[in-house]
Amino acid sequence: MGEVAVFAPGTASNIGPGFDCLGIAFTGLGDTVRASRAGQPGVRVAAVSLERIPTDPLRNTAALAAAAVLKRAGLEREAGLELRVEKGLPLAAGMGGSAASAVAGALAAHEVLKTRLTRIDLLVAAVEAEAVVSGRHADNAAPCLFGGAVIVAGLDPPEVTPVRVHESLGLVFVTPAYEVATAEARKVLPAEVPRADAVGQAARLALLVLGLERGDADLVKRAMWDHIAEPRRAPLYPGYPQARTAGLEAGALGVAVSGAGPTLVALALRETRKAVAAALVDGYAKAGVEARAHVAEVDTVGARVV
Ligand code: HSE
Repeated sequence: MGEVAVFAPGTASNIGPGFDCLGIAFTGLGDTVRASRAGQPGVRVAAVSLERIPTDPLRNTAALAAAAVLKRAGLEREAGLELRVEKGLPLAAGMGGSAASAVAGALAAHEVLKTRLTRIDLLVAAVEAEAVVSGRHADNAAPCLFGGAVIVAGLDPPEVTPVRVHESLGLVFVTPAYEVATAEARKVLPAEVPRADAVGQAARLALLVLGLERGDADLVKRAMWDHIAEPRRAPLYPGYPQARTAGLEAGALGVAVSGAGPTLVALALRETRKAVAAALVDGYAKAGVEARAHVAEVDTVGARVV
């Protein structure tokens, strides 16, 4: 059996009001996992492209997800896999890197072993893997696997619904030169949310989904606020307020922290993306923070064999 290589795209989750339940896959950056059969049962990580990525299969999301696939397929005692992980996504950046490795690991294992698992089974495997390193949420893994924008309405069992993103809309990512570990950013989340905030958040998420589907700039503008996670996490993101203000002044429809950050994601009309990217980088610079931009589109395909 030959090697199978799977590419899994980066994802932005939350996007303002969709904390833990909305994510979008984007073009241009992603992780690749190569899997091949091995003699010994179990999953081994043979190579990683970055020294900081653990090769310990109990701490590597690609290996954890591949092992979860073996287990769900009832093959953990007989099948062995060797993985090679190539990170294209930055670490601890909020671009869905741990989910991308997990999804690529799950799909690569499934393809090499030709299991009968469904895509939802693969999603469960990826979410289980990600939970070990960063917390249990599927708003990165689901869009990464299925492509496009996705609402995750439940985890047990996973309930995933695609959201169409109008072709007039594009994405801009700006990553400041510091890292935020998702597990740390989840520790500061509020255990409870005041009713008015919950209602406001639900209403804005509805507006955002409508705005994305219709390509309605005004709806997106009114929708992209988060009153649950971002206020608590604000101290983790130096330069974000300045960058956000600059991006909105340059024509971004909305700017939000991408996942647990520190990357920020802007939704913008496609033709304004470059100007928005420049303004966001400039906003960080004014706060004394170096940052780099990535102009992207929605990746409508999701994880795929390459
Ligand atoms: N929705 C998750 C969070 C994404 O904000 O913690 C983490 O990547």
